[in-house]
Amino acid sequence: MMDVRRGDAAMDVLREFLEFIEYSKPQPAGELLRRVLFRSRRLTEAEAGTVFIVRGRGKSKRLEAADTQNDCIELEPASFVLPINKASIAGFTAATGETVFVADLYNIPDDLPFSFDPSFDRDHAYRSRSMLSFPLLNHDREVIGVVQLINRLDASGNGPIPFEREQADLIVPFNHIVGGAIERADMVERISAQNMRLRDRNRLLREQRARIAALQDETEEAFQLSISLLSRAAELHDENTAKHVERVNEYSYFLAGKLGSPKAFCNEIRYSAQLHDVGKMSINVAILRKQGPLDEDERLEMMRHPEYGFKILSASDRLQMASEIALNHHEQWNGEGYPAGRKGEEIPVSARIVTLADIYDALRSERSYKPGYTQELTRHILLEGDDHFDPRSHLDPKLIDIFAEHHRGMAEIWDSLSNQ
Ligand SMILES: [Fe+2]
Ligand SMILES: [Fe+2]
Repeated sequence: MMDVRRGDAAMDVLREFLEFIEYSKPQPAGELLRRVLFRSRRLTEAEAGTVFIVRGRGKSKRLEAADTQNDCIELEPASFVLPINKASIAGFTAATGETVFVADLYNIPDDLPFSFDPSFDRDHAYRSRSMLSFPLLNHDREVIGVVQLINRLDASGNGPIPFEREQADLIVPFNHIVGGAIERADMVERISAQNMRLRDRNRLLREQRARIAALQDETEEAFQLSISLLSRAAELHDENTAKHVERVNEYSYFLAGKLGSPKAFCNEIRYSAQLHDVGKMSINVAILRKQGPLDEDERLEMMRHPEYGFKILSASDRLQMASEIALNHHEQWNGEGYPAGRKGEEIPVSARIVTLADIYDALRSERSYKPGYTQELTRHILLEGDDHFDPRSHLDPKLIDIFAEHHRGMAEIWDSLSNQ
């Protein structure tokens, strides 16, 4: 008789546990625990109960209440923690893996290590009496949680009466299935929480990167603005206009590209070229403004503007190319330029490019002593020379060839950025 009842009950447990563990969708660990507690209570006719899950590792290992149920009292969601030691009943169950039966919680025999904390009863005007506390085990038979059932009622709802070992034994065959499912669900939850944190952190990082990029953009803009202002300040006393420096930037960028220079070089020369005459800021205004020919001293002072420019620009790391252009833009291919008389490829290529760009623009521009030349005449002078100018002694022959091939590109820049 007894065995038949037991068999039926075991089938019930199997069916009920497997039903929601094997055949339902993955569930949150909290939901699984809640259902485990509910099924365990039904199976044992327990009026109340708490299910705990083991959290943490090593010394921080502890029991956290996942759900508390009581047919007589309405309860807040469970949120308390117990240490894993023999002082409490759940702690003892988790520490030893043993199932505990207590007939009367207010009369625990003295030889047992744990005691009962009556504060819950006091706070809720409840009377706990009988208890069954059993561990939830994973496949490795490690304790992953504790189910604590309180106040078994008899078939007619009276009681409480003590729990019986055979009730606990019903759980044993399925315990590791339940425990395994809870452990998996808990792991999935922890991993997804971790993913969420990672996603949040990545988003934060992306936002920070965007802020840094925006700051860099602002800094870059401020930098570009200040050098263009600087280059214009240098042209103030010149016949040259602001457009002149803008065009020299663009010619230089264009020529550097045709020369096959790396992109970074092209980008750098595009803002560095405009600073070629910045050294004129250090020349006495009286000399800069003087109408008519300069005397020898004045001419020599004027010829120092490349060195003055170098001094101004070489202070900045970002302006290294600008400083070499300023220093060398009056050097000539044959070594007869100034200030150092550098020759051929001793002259930095950036400066050789700007020299051609500057001369092209000077030829196209109107001056007090000359009209602006047409593209055709400019091209002729730059390729064949005239009474005043010998391109072969002045300019890098490779650049002359590039100009010969691409002079229309130069004309387009002049047209799009001319003063008119
Ligand atoms: Fe110059
Ligand atoms: Fe210039």
